[in-house]
Amino acid sequence: MKIGSVTMVPSGRQFEVLPGQTLLEAGLAAGIALPFGCANGSCGTCQARVQTGSVDKIKHHDFVLTETQKLDGHCLLCSCSTNQNINIEVLEANSVVDIPHQELQAKLCRSERSQNVIVLAFKFVRGKALRFLPGQRVQLTQSAGSSIELAIASCPCNAQYVEFHIANNEHSQLEAAQWAELMLEARSRERISVSGPLGDFTLSNNIGKPKLFIANGIEFAQLQGMIEQVLNSELDVPCFLIWQASANTPHYRLNWCQSWRDAFDNFDFLAIETNAAICSVLPASWLSKNPGYEVYIGAMHHELHQNLINLGIPPDSIFFPAS
Ligand code: FES
Repeated sequence: MKIGSVTMVPSGRQFEVLPGQTLLEAGLAAGIALPFGCANGSCGTCQARVQTGSVDKIKHHDFVLTETQKLDGHCLLCSCSTNQNINIEVLEANSVVDIPHQELQAKLCRSERSQNVIVLAFKFVRGKALRFLPGQRVQLTQSAGSSIELAIASCPCNAQYVEFHIANNEHSQLEAAQWAELMLEARSRERISVSGPLGDFTLSNNIGKPKLFIANGIEFAQLQGMIEQVLNSELDVPCFLIWQASANTPHYRLNWCQSWRDAFDNFDFLAIETNAAICSVLPASWLSKNPGYEVYIGAMHHELHQNLINLGIPPDSIFFPAS
């Protein structure tokens, strides 16, 4: 079983390809924002040029490459694999402006209720996939017209699925909880429209810089995909999560955090249960011992933001979604 190794030109980023994996699947799993549209060989968006080495076609594609393109080394990332060391020329998305707006249809494929949180996972129909950066949001519309905008909790490494977390307690956003309950009633009969991606809260291009994530309750949903992307990147970037929760919205994915800590040496977390304001749970001693971190906050908390600046974090290293 020989594993392929891909170096991207011009970025120099690298990822490994397992036997049977397409270059697109392997690149996305490694947290690289490769270009793609259909993910099933019909649109041609994932076209790339092999500079050195060769690839094998392992999946049928309807998109037709011209003879000139083939002679010039062009291939489709969603149809080809490799077991060699190869260099490919391809344009990665570096920011949200590189990702086109998409309109897709999806069906509910998994749901769970976990400690006052409803988790809904949707699969795109006809093998389609959504191109997005972790931290972004989408608008979801049920066939009856009821719409809601939610943060995508899942990582783009499996872009045929998207997952959302919705708080369902007396303090939660009533509109979101009702939307989720309607979805659960309709279950797989319902086909929803997914429109996006939206928002510019996403990981910075400073991929090697250590990352601190801070979430209060359900804000974990906004950060989960980002953490997965950092861990999937295999760059061993130190990554720490401070997650405050209360009895209303507990640490509903504590088992995920524990399994990340078991699997990745570069990840650790602190789960704090309190009703206190999130700015007061910030461990100043941890920050003083761990300088140089970028900080990602699940939502804008002005007092927390000011505390971070007072603790010496430069304002341009603090990221939060627009409210
Ligand atoms: S993503 Fe459409 S052809 Fe590869």
